[in-house]
Amino acid sequence: MSMHFRPHIALAHQYWEKILQPGDWAIDATCGNGRDTFKLAEVLKGGGVIAIDIQPEAIAKTEGRLESMTGVHFFCQSHETFPLLAMQKPVRLIVYNLGYLPGGNKNMTTRVESTLISVSNASEIILPCGAISITCYPGHAEGALEEKALLEELSRWPSDRWDVCHHTFPHRRLAPSVLIIQKKL
Ligand SMILES: C[S@@+](CC[C@H](N)C(=O)[O-])C[C@H]1O[C@@H](n2cnc3c(N)ncnc32)[C@H](O)[C@@H]1O
Repeated sequence: MSMHFRPHIALAHQYWEKILQPGDWAIDATCGNGRDTFKLAEVLKGGGVIAIDIQPEAIAKTEGRLESMTGVHFFCQSHETFPLLAMQKPVRLIVYNLGYLPGGNKNMTTRVESTLISVSNASEIILPCGAISITCYPGHAEGALEEKALLEELSRWPSDRWDVCHHTFPHRRLAPSVLIIQKKL
């Protein structure tokens, strides 16, 4: 295994490759440095990606990383509400990589209240068989609260409408975890 192998990222990306179909749209609700947006744009040739981040610095970084890619639309805003474009497109996947911008201001982190609102809104707009992918970071205080609140909230989602799977690494309890929430037909 390479020193730089990040199993949570690899796992989430494998799901995205399975879930997305040609012509689909995806939302990166926390585009940050643009690595996840890049992956979505790569998988979604012919579809579109909506990249959202609350920080102008993050939008600029993502735009820079994706300058050779087409079909990516940028929105500098909180993901509590999704842009109108998201309501007009067949969105099959919405991804969150929670926490703060690596190398940026650690106070500008995702927060329990806005994350829960956003995930609830995401559940309304994704297509049947679409999914929400959330990478949680329980290794920092707000990240631990977010993971706990999400698990409590998702435990109440009806199992006849949703498949919810939480991937953890039991030998590294503070390691990032991955939630995959799939809407049933
Ligand atoms: C861990 S980083 C994302 C990493 C990114 N996906 C990548 O591949 O580089 C989390 C991002 O969430 C953003 N963020 C925090 N609160 C937000 C909110 N309410 N709405 C949208 N973005 C938010 C931060 O600015 C930060 O860039």
